Amino acid sequence: MKYIKVFITIMVTAAFINVQAQESYLVEKDIAVFYPPNFDAAQTLPSVAVIHPLDNKGTLPKSWKMIPQFKLSGGKSIMEMRYDEGTDLYGTGEVTGSLRRNDKNITLWNTDNGLYLQHNGDRLYQSHPWILGVRADGSAFGILADNTWKQEVKLTQPISIVSEGPAFRVIVIEKKSPQEVVKALAQLTGTLELPPMWALGYQQSRFSYYPQGQVQEIADNFRSKKIPLDVIWMDINYMDNFKIFTFDSNGYADPKGLNKYLHSKSVKSVYMIDPGVKKEAGYKVYDQGQAGNHWVADKNGQPFVGKVWPEACVFPDFTNPKTRTWWSGLYKDFMALGIDGVWNDMNEPSVFNGPDGSMPADNKHTGGDGLAAGPHLRYHNIFGMMMVKATREGILAANPDKRPFVLSRSNFIGGQRYAATWTGDNASKFDYLKTSIPMSINLGLSGQPFSGPDIGGFDGDCDAKLFSQWIAVGAYYPFCRNHTTTGSAAQEPWAYGTEVENISRNAINRRYRLLPYLYTLFREASQSGMPVMRPVFFADTKNKALRSEDQAFLLGGDLLVIPRWAEKTQLPQGNWVNVPFEDTDDGQQAIVKIRPGAIVPLGNVVQSTEEYAPKEITLLLNPDEKGNVYGEFYDDAKDGFGYKTGDFVLIKFEGKVKAGKVSVKVKQAEGKRKIAPRYRIGLVTKTGIKYSSWQEGDTVTL
Ligand code: NOJ
Repeated sequence: MKYIKVFITIMVTAAFINVQAQESYLVEKDIAVFYPPNFDAAQTLPSVAVIHPLDNKGTLPKSWKMIPQFKLSGGKSIMEMRYDEGTDLYGTGEVTGSLRRNDKNITLWNTDNGLYLQHNGDRLYQSHPWILGVRADGSAFGILADNTWKQEVKLTQPISIVSEGPAFRVIVIEKKSPQEVVKALAQLTGTLELPPMWALGYQQSRFSYYPQGQVQEIADNFRSKKIPLDVIWMDINYMDNFKIFTFDSNGYADPKGLNKYLHSKSVKSVYMIDPGVKKEAGYKVYDQGQAGNHWVADKNGQPFVGKVWPEACVFPDFTNPKTRTWWSGLYKDFMALGIDGVWNDMNEPSVFNGPDGSMPADNKHTGGDGLAAGPHLRYHNIFGMMMVKATREGILAANPDKRPFVLSRSNFIGGQRYAATWTGDNASKFDYLKTSIPMSINLGLSGQPFSGPDIGGFDGDCDAKLFSQWIAVGAYYPFCRNHTTTGSAAQEPWAYGTEVENISRNAINRRYRLLPYLYTLFREASQSGMPVMRPVFFADTKNKALRSEDQAFLLGGDLLVIPRWAEKTQLPQGNWVNVPFEDTDDGQQAIVKIRPGAIVPLGNVVQSTEEYAPKEITLLLNPDEKGNVYGEFYDDAKDGFGYKTGDFVLIKFEGKVKAGKVSVKVKQAEGKRKIAPRYRIGLVTKTGIKYSSWQEGDTVTL
């Protein structure tokens, strides 16, 4: 506390002078927290990002390098930190541009930034006050500002975070590798809950399929054309005049019937719900919210009214636990119509006639559950996060035996606990395809493993060439959904003629063949926070040449995906060999390579995850220099929570390849679920692939 006095004296005499932390200590090995001198807990805590209290577990070692300096200047609270020259910076969530973020200046103020055109693309739908630094020697650090107020992240030397709110605490992670830093971030901010397997399938959307008969036709087409599909999405036109939780009595007179039809075709349905509630007396949701006093207030304490799709709207104050409970409850009847998942959009919140396309910063929020009442300037960045928290709880309460699936446009660091995301309104242009890759990689490095862009692009008409290029790599995004805007040309895989249809089918088939591997990766993400889509430099963190590679990417640790259109890629050394997908190469498919030393489990082509079963598994082996191979395979009931009480299996395969002789040991490392796949081994060598059927205990010669 004595520092506060010193600090005030300094502030009077100089505009800014660096001040040491009032208090700092280790919260875990290699994780430290720093409190600024003038810290007032009520202004930034309880944390919505960090899931555990940060208890004092000891003093900082003398060798600790990354020490923040705090200062106040011009009414702003600032944190600065120096780092070693030659360090590459990543993270900061959803921003356009290249993977490496050095020299970027990012404003964290969630913004409905169509086509990323405003603010140079440095201010999008989500906020991640988080920086990952990778030093020249491969060691790494992470900086997390535990702060929701409007702030800027300047990735210069020193790094600075400039907040428009009061002083905030900073958490610093110091590890031997970026992977360890990302896992430590997950320890602090949580992981995604294992999604239902159907959410990993291919998904088809548009703004909007209308009327509901068109949705049925789309489903039929996928099935008759034998293009795998798991989900169709219902955008706002299903609603009656864009009123949430209602249905258009002409186009969507029978949503229950529609969902039943889709289910009979093994297709799931996801419906959109926006936060704006039409201000209309007699409309149930409005009346209830009005009676419960659930709206965000303007500076005079009156319900704030702003324009969104239904014209004049009011907005639930999701900082208020009572409002969240009310909001959760709205999903009960909705989900009872056979709806499988929920898409929360426009939740920055987007307000068409508001300042900067949102609410005034002096709007008022109630808070609750320990959060103090406060201005929108404090709560804007978590409006979407608190909304999806409530949505998730609502759909879980409605269907307690099913894993909830929520997609959100807006979010905040830690929000992976509640919702997956897509990268908002991109365009049907090659540049947007290119930028989608570093965007999703950096989201993964910022704690959100479940993301992807609108495949084919949202704005404008996609053409045959771009669609082929996009779907061929889009098949490997963690979230794989084709979506386009209203009035644009058809963008279904068959919309461009037979050649593109075949290319699309091949790409999507490959995704479904990879399901055993992909599902294992999602399980890993849910356990440790390791991203599903990873930067190439994760394959060799000491190789500086890989640090800017953002056309190619890693899918998990064992597969490297190289788009056919990629130029001058920097790839890891070693004998990475092509995965044989056993289909006809159409010249468009991304090249997928398997890491030396890896075993990757593949399944057969299925038309949906509902059809998927681990009956026949191909183990693809690429031995390292010593002939060693290792891989993992996770399986469970695909949905529900049985996995939490042991109804799952994690198999670990460990093998040796010597002079063509292959032996693999199988160990059920975790779980009680029994599966008995028929295995086939595929040994990938420089001269091609050799297959053999195989059973546990066999040694086969290939
Ligand atoms: C904006 C979303 O980003 C887009 O995906 C959606 O189609 C429209 N809102 C209409 O709901």
